[in-house]
Amino acid sequence: MSKHANIARTLLIQRLSDGQFHSGETLGKELGLTRAAISKHIKVLKDYGLDVFSVTGKGYRLASPMVLLSHSAIAKDIPAGTNLEVLNIIDSTNQYIKQRIDHLHNGHTCLAEAQTNGRGRHGRAWVSPYGASMYLSMFWSFAGGYQAISGLSLVVGIAINQALVDIGIAGVKLKWPNDVYLQGRKLAGVLIEAEGQLGEPCQCVIGIGLNVQLPKETNNIDQPWTDLSSVSDKPIDRNQLASVLINQLLKHLTRFQQDGLAPFVDQWQPLDFFYDKPVKLLMGNKEITGINKGINQSGAMLLDVGGKIEPFHGGEISVRAN
Ligand code: BTN
Repeated sequence: MSKHANIARTLLIQRLSDGQFHSGETLGKELGLTRAAISKHIKVLKDYGLDVFSVTGKGYRLASPMVLLSHSAIAKDIPAGTNLEVLNIIDSTNQYIKQRIDHLHNGHTCLAEAQTNGRGRHGRAWVSPYGASMYLSMFWSFAGGYQAISGLSLVVGIAINQALVDIGIAGVKLKWPNDVYLQGRKLAGVLIEAEGQLGEPCQCVIGIGLNVQLPKETNNIDQPWTDLSSVSDKPIDRNQLASVLINQLLKHLTRFQQDGLAPFVDQWQPLDFFYDKPVKLLMGNKEITGINKGINQSGAMLLDVGGKIEPFHGGEISVRAN
């Protein structure tokens, strides 16, 4: 997308965010564009998942008013010096951080309103409609290399739960190794992409997708999902959510870097969605069934297989209810 188009679309959304009608003519004058150009940009925004419609004689309107992500609103509530980038529409916040990975400091965070190529685990796409969720990626480098990041995704899940508790959302559960559930449905996912040579620091991009208010007609998600607006009686302030999430990530990652997983092991069990329940582990073509017995000190899932407790490490294991 050209820089000009991105700027025009950002300005257009800012005008529309009040939820009022704006005629194509007025928008065109305000943005220095023709009505036809406005109409084209609106069409693209619709394709990005923005819920905008038009009425002849009145113009364009969002289905409901929308508070856009704001750098200043988030930055005022996170530690001074935290590098924060708030972007409009990009391919993927993880990809954005990855492309700059050698020049970043721990805690460098990127947020976007929409992703055109949001990435999920196991090579899946992450549905990322405009303004509907939190798309966040944070950079962190672990001096101890790959060994030092064992259990990282569990710590990130614990941090997400704490951020949600901070904004009044209770009852969150975590599915090993990194899914966030609410009322039995997926609320958020974590994708950690790590880089580093043997014996060198492990540079991580910690990506979080957290559903806030997905369009009701969202039907291209391959599992039952929920969003915060479905469980909260007050509107979710995404700027507040972003700042509490960043604060909890900074706090938890700093502790994890210093003390490893040990301080978090006891916090995991009460949050474990499948604790003491039968589960099926999928590892490539292999399937193992057993009773989930929580995690060990290195974050491996403990499975009771026929009376013998065995640890299973992250990677490409997928957990399903048995
Ligand atoms: C999962 O499959 O459960 C993980 C989803 C992770 C999605 C987030 S959205 C922000 C960041 N950027 C991406 O492209 N993916 C992650």
